[in-house]
Amino acid sequence: MLEAQPAQIAEDKFSIHNLVTREPRAGLAEDVRRGLATKPKRFLPKYFYDELGSQLFEAICLLPEYYLTRAENDILTRYADDIVAEVHGEITLIEMGSGSASKTRLIIEALLRKQPDLLFIPVDISASALDSSSRILLQSYPQLSIEAYAGDYFAGLAELEKTTRARTLALFLGSNISNFDPDEALKFLRALRQVLHAGDALLLGADLKKDRATLEAAYNDALGVTAAFNLNVLARINRELGGSFDLRGFQHHAFYNEELGRVEIYIESTRDQTVSIGQLEMEVQFGKGEQIHTENSYKYALSDIANLAAETGFRRASTWLDSDERFSSNLLLAV
Ligand SMILES: C[S@@+](CC[C@H](N)C(=O)[O-])C[C@H]1O[C@@H](n2cnc3c(N)ncnc32)[C@H](O)[C@@H]1O
Repeated sequence: MLEAQPAQIAEDKFSIHNLVTREPRAGLAEDVRRGLATKPKRFLPKYFYDELGSQLFEAICLLPEYYLTRAENDILTRYADDIVAEVHGEITLIEMGSGSASKTRLIIEALLRKQPDLLFIPVDISASALDSSSRILLQSYPQLSIEAYAGDYFAGLAELEKTTRARTLALFLGSNISNFDPDEALKFLRALRQVLHAGDALLLGADLKKDRATLEAAYNDALGVTAAFNLNVLARINRELGGSFDLRGFQHHAFYNEELGRVEIYIESTRDQTVSIGQLEMEVQFGKGEQIHTENSYKYALSDIANLAAETGFRRASTWLDSDERFSSNLLLAV
């Protein structure tokens, strides 16, 4: 049987700068060592996204309980033309944490109704997601060219600060901002503001505060995909750092901490056990019920977003909600 060949992409249309090629595993190794030595134990959410983790996140987006993707898609389907109309001039599009860039298509199409061509600059820690999403976008839109950066947000922003652009619209979709603690969110938005000029804009997708049942269901789906996404961090440590985690000895745990306004996600040891991590020459003890904190997902009030904008060199110019008012898309203008 003949295998389908991927279509050739012209070299001048696509470049990918790999900011993690120097020692791809060093960051993971150092952060895992540090995270397992602290009390309580913790991992950084960016390590969810190896190739399998990125695919599992795409599956999460299809789950009935995970309303976030559908809600944001609903907003962009209805309002993409209104959103891009608020940014004047020939636009370059940046996206932080673009993933599969499925919803980005709605913004790209709206921009291509306004201008003949478009430079898209996605930044994502997952090189595999960047490569496949870029190729799919380039096949769909001949007017598009892509300059991608594979690496951490802050490494990508440091590179973007060295270059100049025309009027810029930056995207931070999917409520990726939710993973940051409040001080980290300020730090991130200030770093992003540094690469923009007055009059440029940021479209910030932010999940809204709502009832506990809806929030807890979104992170505890019946099919167990979110559990697999969470536990994949242990599988990743086994694969990349020679770990001996027995995944059957750990379980997913997620709940809404209303006081702090965030869903907290943990991996919990179901028994007393010792795990070795070959490349770190490390043995780690887990007591029954002991947890590793893997992710927070902060939920926002619209006033929180206006305050965040005001503290980081932006002004919240417009907000659009989905028809169920679960999710917000906020256009922040750089002032
Ligand atoms: C929750 S997914 C959202 C993907 C997409 N924006 C969406 O709305 O469906 C988070 C994305 O951000 C990327 N990401 C997470 N942490 C990152 C970091 N610290 N630096 C760069 N990319 C990161 C992941 O690889 C993933 O593609």
